[in-house]
Amino acid sequence: MHSNQGPRLNPHIASAPLYTPGTSVEEVAARYGVAEVIKLASNENPLGPSPRAVAAIRAALPELFRYPRIADDELRARLAERLGPNIGPEHIATGNGATELLALISQGFIDEGDEAIICPPTFPMYEIFIRRRGGRPVRVNLTVDYGYDVEAILAAITPRTRLIFICSPNNPTGTIMTQAEADRLMAGVPDRVVVVFDESYLAFVDRDDHVKAIEYVRAERSVILLRSFSKAHGLAGLRVGYAIAHPTLAEYLWRSRLPFHLGSLALVGAMAALDDVDHVSRTRELIIAERAKLVNRLKELGLFVVPSQSNFIIFRPGYDPQTVYEHLLRRGVIVRPADFFYMPDFIRVSVGTPEQNERFIAALKDVLDNLAADRSERSR
Ligand SMILES: Cc1ncc(COP(=O)(O)O)c(C=O)c1O
Repeated sequence: MHSNQGPRLNPHIASAPLYTPGTSVEEVAARYGVAEVIKLASNENPLGPSPRAVAAIRAALPELFRYPRIADDELRARLAERLGPNIGPEHIATGNGATELLALISQGFIDEGDEAIICPPTFPMYEIFIRRRGGRPVRVNLTVDYGYDVEAILAAITPRTRLIFICSPNNPTGTIMTQAEADRLMAGVPDRVVVVFDESYLAFVDRDDHVKAIEYVRAERSVILLRSFSKAHGLAGLRVGYAIAHPTLAEYLWRSRLPFHLGSLALVGAMAALDDVDHVSRTRELIIAERAKLVNRLKELGLFVVPSQSNFIIFRPGYDPQTVYEHLLRRGVIVRPADFFYMPDFIRVSVGTPEQNERFIAALKDVLDNLAADRSERSR
């Protein structure tokens, strides 16, 4: 703008960091002329979308000229059925991905100067949404083992604390909050503070001691659980997520959404995906088996790897992650340097099909061997 007399911008929105998505297959294919690019950068489902969702979306196309049903009642009712006793549609709020619900949560609870506790390294959107509202993100870092420091979180609560964000499994570390840790947390958090349990990657957990946060909803605590259709259902492009909370909180989130917030294809696709139990279980089995293999292969390369309960793994490449990332791009493999996720020395790789994982390991080994050769050349 030419003068400083232009429109007055909200400084919080103008200065909040932007979300940077993973690099796309098309970009890399065009830039490096690689024919077959694999993307292991955005924790997408290596088996693709739920086939039942795809069929339902196809069948619904002729109705696209109509407005979607404004109510998401049917989707919420079907979700509630699957969530077990004492959870009804009134406990659920849907959103344009879990991301929209994160935005609605910050909008609903954070005013200028309010505090929200986040536990980096974690999903950066928590901080971005808090800052857009003029709120203050209070950082309580994960422990050296990338676990939650419950006592430090409790000690960080002040009269201005409105929200605590717990991500389990956590993006980007793949580590979890256990039931015992969550019980200690919930015993100390006053009910005026809302604890958000982001469970976008819950389907990939195989440890028995993971927190069963839905029990806090049943116990009528101030919690909001977030879930997503982007991962286990393979519908990241459709944009559907949901929150589970006490009806008062669910209705509060519901009030601030847009009319027609979910398109008709999103509604039918999500409902069909819920019935596609087979796709979710095949995805889960693949991820659990492949992540174990991938962790071993990375360790065989002598790298430090954090054990993961999710569909991605974080590792320290031992060289500048940006350099390793760029060399991998040239070999047609897209991963994610983790600086954006508060881990500047690490790279995050999503678990893919067995073939994709092998190709990634072969490319990484080649890159690391070349960098080692360069290093010893220079030191001579
Ligand atoms: C921890 C976490 N929460 C929420 C989301 C957002 O998911 P959605 O695609 O449902 O908006 C992501 C996406 O990567 C995530 O990693």
